[in-house]
Amino acid sequence: MINYIEKNKIFVLETNNTHYVFGIDKTGYNRHIHWGGKCSIKDYEFTDINGENSNNSMLDEYRQEITPFGSTMYRECDIKAKFADGCREISMHFENYSINGNTLCVNFKDDFYPLWITLNYEVYEDYDIIKRYVTLKNTGNDNIVFDRIFSAEFSLPSVEPYTFKNTNGAWGGEFLQTETVLDGGSLVYESRRGASNHNQSPYFIAHRNADENSGEVYFASLAYSGNFKVSASRDNYSVTRISIGMNDFDFSHTLTPDETFDTPPVYCGRANGFGEMSRNMNRFCVDVLMPKQFNDKPLPVLYNSWEATGFDVNSAHQTELAKIAAEMGVELFVMDDGWFGKRNNDCAGLGDWFVNPEKFPNGLDELIENVNALGMDFGIWVEPEMVNPDSDLYRSHPDWAYHYDHRNADELRNQLVLNMTRADVQEYIFNCLDELLKNHNIKYIKWDMNRPFSQTGAENLDDPQMYSYLHTMAVYSIVDRLKERYPHVQFESCASGGGRCDLGAISHYDQVWTSDNTDGIDRMTIQKGYSLLHPIKTMRAWVTDIEGINKPCSLDFRFNIAMQGALGIGGNLIKYSAEDLEICKRNTAFYKSIRNTVQFGDLYRILDIEKDEVLCNEYVSADKNKSVIFIAANGTRFYKKKFNLHFAGLDMKKTYSFALDGTEYKKGGAYLMNVGIPIYVRGVDYNRAIVLMSVDEK
Ligand code: DGJ
Repeated sequence: MINYIEKNKIFVLETNNTHYVFGIDKTGYNRHIHWGGKCSIKDYEFTDINGENSNNSMLDEYRQEITPFGSTMYRECDIKAKFADGCREISMHFENYSINGNTLCVNFKDDFYPLWITLNYEVYEDYDIIKRYVTLKNTGNDNIVFDRIFSAEFSLPSVEPYTFKNTNGAWGGEFLQTETVLDGGSLVYESRRGASNHNQSPYFIAHRNADENSGEVYFASLAYSGNFKVSASRDNYSVTRISIGMNDFDFSHTLTPDETFDTPPVYCGRANGFGEMSRNMNRFCVDVLMPKQFNDKPLPVLYNSWEATGFDVNSAHQTELAKIAAEMGVELFVMDDGWFGKRNNDCAGLGDWFVNPEKFPNGLDELIENVNALGMDFGIWVEPEMVNPDSDLYRSHPDWAYHYDHRNADELRNQLVLNMTRADVQEYIFNCLDELLKNHNIKYIKWDMNRPFSQTGAENLDDPQMYSYLHTMAVYSIVDRLKERYPHVQFESCASGGGRCDLGAISHYDQVWTSDNTDGIDRMTIQKGYSLLHPIKTMRAWVTDIEGINKPCSLDFRFNIAMQGALGIGGNLIKYSAEDLEICKRNTAFYKSIRNTVQFGDLYRILDIEKDEVLCNEYVSADKNKSVIFIAANGTRFYKKKFNLHFAGLDMKKTYSFALDGTEYKKGGAYLMNVGIPIYVRGVDYNRAIVLMSVDEK
């Protein structure tokens, strides 16, 4: 709900549990007032946000929704431009606003130049989430050149220093959490690699001693897969501000006469503890943000051939794997890299999205029909944004890759990035994928992207430094167009593992590949990091043959961990013993019986593998009639892990039945949450999954 207090020009954005408040002062500046707990809306009428003066720059002290560059403002700004006559100062003042249901647009105009700046808000009350973005409009006859356009600025309520959580990952170790106390100066999380990358995440999570269940947590996540920047600072007056948006590193955008530009959106919220933050964002993403074709459908159990076959794919071998996968209960068989062009290793073939006739002399349909006959859907791997110099595509269109004529084009993994900002490149990619989907019964596309960009900003762009934005939008648009034409096809975003897993990707793809690291032990940490601000359902997690180096980690253990997302299997099934196959079959059947609870339920992170030596995650269905608890540990010390496990998220008034280690339980929700049941976690390979069913509802 959006309230406007006319008298003081104050906007109160209200969600179920929060108020987000800002206003317009007497000079027409935008002024942030409050973000946090609710109070009587009437009281905001008396909030004084005007009339300060001093020998200091008051502008510098303001808390604002958006800060333009210029005047006596020296802190981080959000919008910076150069007008045609060389003026580099924006002087924006309030003009008017419009409220349409839960959407608010507040319009500002430059005092002299023909520039309009609109702050857009959308309130999702039930999720305690607010969407924000900025619109720029050039109403004049001259270009306006921007070298920074962030999506939003936030100010946090407390004067005490906040701790910022983000991730500091890399290939094979994505979503590893970091915490930094920001007591002065600035802190930046960013990507400069062209895509959102493995290293840091395009969000902030700010808190003061919060834990899973308590403490105010403020967060905002940018839905954008290009270069991003999250810049937080705490000033001399102890105000913590954060700006978030497209990275201004290597950025420039020319707003031509009559042009309008919308920034990527940011989704923000305030929650009580990290658990509530994750649950709110999870629900919001599943219900609102994710593509509508599959958001409310359980994702299938898939098999992926990459780890079993590498580039060495052919119809007979894949069919052999498919037969075993089908017996295990797999629903979707995905053939990974190696099926096209001259793709025998990573040195050739990218760009030639045509079936390799030596590997598939009878075409692709032979394999697809085999897979379908086994009762499974068929999916396929592509890496559309890339080209190997050793490919027919590159030989015919060397200029299609990002390059500078007089510089060496840097190859990484023997490949170059295609200049997706070109319309002809976009059409080529769209047509290749369109042909693939038109001519074959393919139900799943794994869209990979295996290197960061270089030699960018090619000759076709007026604004070469917009390449990251334009490339990202081109990817989204091709995926959207294909989804429209082939609504039955699911898309997965992969980028050398989890290099493109942001909320922008999640708004267009149905799932993501979280990491190439499928070690059950490492995955506990990676998946926890992912679960903070990403929907669980999107997290593809495979069981493979990586047993862990010096870390015994049985097949059951690996299933126990992989089942906490969208389960996949990726091992070399041909080598599996009869006993292994039975384990796979049993776990796959079990997963199917609980996947709705995992994929659509609420996650409670009860115990933390790093802090507590034991991982315990509980997923509770929306109606609280079913719950699944996964417990795992890789060895505990000093015989200390004998404790009462307190469940979470259950209905206090319902009675639940379940079994653990041969004991049958029938207990009330209140008992399970307040008293708990005894657990003794021991051994290096401890893993349990407990299913609670409410017995009252039957
Ligand atoms: C990187 C991905 O993360 C892997 O899963 C696999 O698809 C390879 N690329 C294939 O080249």
